[in-house]
Amino acid sequence: MAGGYPEVQFYERELNIRRVIEECDLQRLDQALNICDLSSVERKLRLWQQLLPRIKPFYAVKCNDDPMVVRLLAELGAGFDCASKNEVKLVLGFGVPPERIIFANPCRPVSHLEYAKEHQVSNGTVDNEFEVYKLHTHYPNSNLIVRFKSEAKEAQCPLGDKFGCDADVDAAALMLLAKSLDLKVTGTSFHVGSGCSELEAYDRAIKKAKNLFKFGALLGYDMDFLDIGGGFPGSDDGKFGKIAESVNTSVQRHFPNERVHIIAEPGRFFVAAACTLVCKIHAKREIRNEAGKLDTVMYYLNDGVYGSFNCILYDHQVVTAEHYLDDADSLPQLKSLIWGPSCDALDKISEDLHLPNLNRGDLLGFRNMGAYTMPIASPFNGFEVPKTLYFQAI
Ligand SMILES: Cc1ncc(COP(=O)(O)O)c(C=O)c1O
Repeated sequence: MAGGYPEVQFYERELNIRRVIEECDLQRLDQALNICDLSSVERKLRLWQQLLPRIKPFYAVKCNDDPMVVRLLAELGAGFDCASKNEVKLVLGFGVPPERIIFANPCRPVSHLEYAKEHQVSNGTVDNEFEVYKLHTHYPNSNLIVRFKSEAKEAQCPLGDKFGCDADVDAAALMLLAKSLDLKVTGTSFHVGSGCSELEAYDRAIKKAKNLFKFGALLGYDMDFLDIGGGFPGSDDGKFGKIAESVNTSVQRHFPNERVHIIAEPGRFFVAAACTLVCKIHAKREIRNEAGKLDTVMYYLNDGVYGSFNCILYDHQVVTAEHYLDDADSLPQLKSLIWGPSCDALDKISEDLHLPNLNRGDLLGFRNMGAYTMPIASPFNGFEVPKTLYFQAI
């Protein structure tokens, strides 16, 4: 611990997981380890600034609330999307001014609203009339950002069933209600769905936002805040480049006026690729067919779907494993089924892998494990959640 924070280890050029395993002697540990590359988060921010210069990223804390990640992004000047009072508290604790926070949960408990009011976190989303009345009572001078629904045709985790009002009819009704209550509507927001796979989704949504800005102007609102949500890929920078191009074209067409502040709420974009989970095989079993021939090797790891691999259940992630055997290319690849450590048969990590015949004590690494993993992990059955080791390029 340095100054109350965990220690950061430094590397040159590229973070090599094999070297980390050797140098940190991970082999001796029984607990799974999360290797977090803070420089990867910083590189993502630079990439964002290069490809989407007009759009300010407000990191979605829910995706990975690791204080080291949040602190780094705070120091680098990012904004933050918070879903709860505790997330707001965490971000404010790193000295982030309230203007760099959006409270982007359209349904907030009163105590959370009161906390936001007390700390002047005035930008918040809203998508139904009950919340408009709630804001009227508890935070009437806040900025209402109307969240409408505009989903991608394909996304890893669609969000539209839960949040976002209809953009054609209900959004206008909400704005009229806000006007009648003398509340300020300052902008709009949407989320095309997390892990969006449709390039055109952002353009379609930005067009709807433009119509709502026009309607707002008719009501006398001077709207100047556009929030294009999250959905950006975490481990495919090529795809991100294409989305960025489409978003830039769309905002240029629909919001050419620079007085409109444009933000986004990227979560997985920043952190997915930053973490590699290293697990140990603590047990194995061989499954043979009736002729006695080996069919499948089953491995039991020290982390599972109740720990960091909850992303398989909740975030629909498909994970791939890498082993660290030397000269393994010549070894036969066997059908392998990987289980987590608990006594629950739902605790299955993967059944579609082909790996060489591994032994108890061997390590397996899982890349791209930084998004929607650690904040949700629980020590079910008494198996501890992984410890994180932090690294940074010199
Ligand atoms: C309101 C809101 N903003 C942003 C995000 C982050 O999305 P992503 O990780 O796809 O960028 C989420 C994810 O659930 C969300 O609900």
